[in-house]
Amino acid sequence: MSQPEPRKRIRTRHFAQAKAAGHKITALTSYDALTAAIFDAADVDLLLVGDSAANVVLGYQTTLPITTDELIPMARAVASAAQRALVVADLPFGSYENSPEQAWQTASRFMKETNVAAVKLEGGERMAAQIRRLTESGIPVCGHVGFTPQSEHGLGGHVVQGRGAAEAQLLADALAVERAGAFAVVLEMVPADVAQRVTEQLQIPTIGIGAGAGCDGQILVWQDAFGLTTGRTPRFVRRYADLAGVLGEAARHYVDDVRSGAYPSEAENYENTQQ
Ligand code: KIV
Repeated sequence: MSQPEPRKRIRTRHFAQAKAAGHKITALTSYDALTAAIFDAADVDLLLVGDSAANVVLGYQTTLPITTDELIPMARAVASAAQRALVVADLPFGSYENSPEQAWQTASRFMKETNVAAVKLEGGERMAAQIRRLTESGIPVCGHVGFTPQSEHGLGGHVVQGRGAAEAQLLADALAVERAGAFAVVLEMVPADVAQRVTEQLQIPTIGIGAGAGCDGQILVWQDAFGLTTGRTPRFVRRYADLAGVLGEAARHYVDDVRSGAYPSEAENYENTQQ
């Protein structure tokens, strides 16, 4: 996304402008102040305090167990560090599905307690009433359709969505999110041609993750993209760095230095002198 003035804060209206101008939107997850400052300085447009923190920060098997109380301090840290990026917080599983009122209660906590600029929730037609309630209350919402990790048990695992006859429902879900007032929608694990057709039929931008280059923007979980995650990652992940390797090497070096007495050195000691 290009901007009129450097370092001017990104607002939700800039997402519609980016789509109209054909400028790709860049997004990453972030869960702490240090990575938020780094990604913000790199001109990432949207920082998502995703419920993927359940996996990559808290070590849970799925995103389902993470709570609003666990995500709020992370959202506050990211929002405090980002100067340009639009910061969006995920509404955790169980905190919004029951009713528009429940969604408003949870979203208003994020808005009051963290200083994020928007929230994200999963679901299309079935969540339209929640999205409408939030947007009509002045809380910007990013939708999320296709593979929705909070429903992974219902969907039968990490399964590509929108193939064949399921394309019509995917489009209906994305349109429902748009009509309810969302400023953008994440499309996760959708065939590239399907995602492109959905993108062409929406006014709001699509942000893809495993949904091909035809989306208006892309998002990745940063630990996957920069190689802190070890083991198997989904096929859509490109590893831009090997942070696990760099950190492991640095930690081994430190351990060697402490064991050998090479750390700390004279230069790293305080002197016993009066000031
Ligand atoms: O929680 C998350 O990180 C997400 C992205 C995968 C879009 O929802």
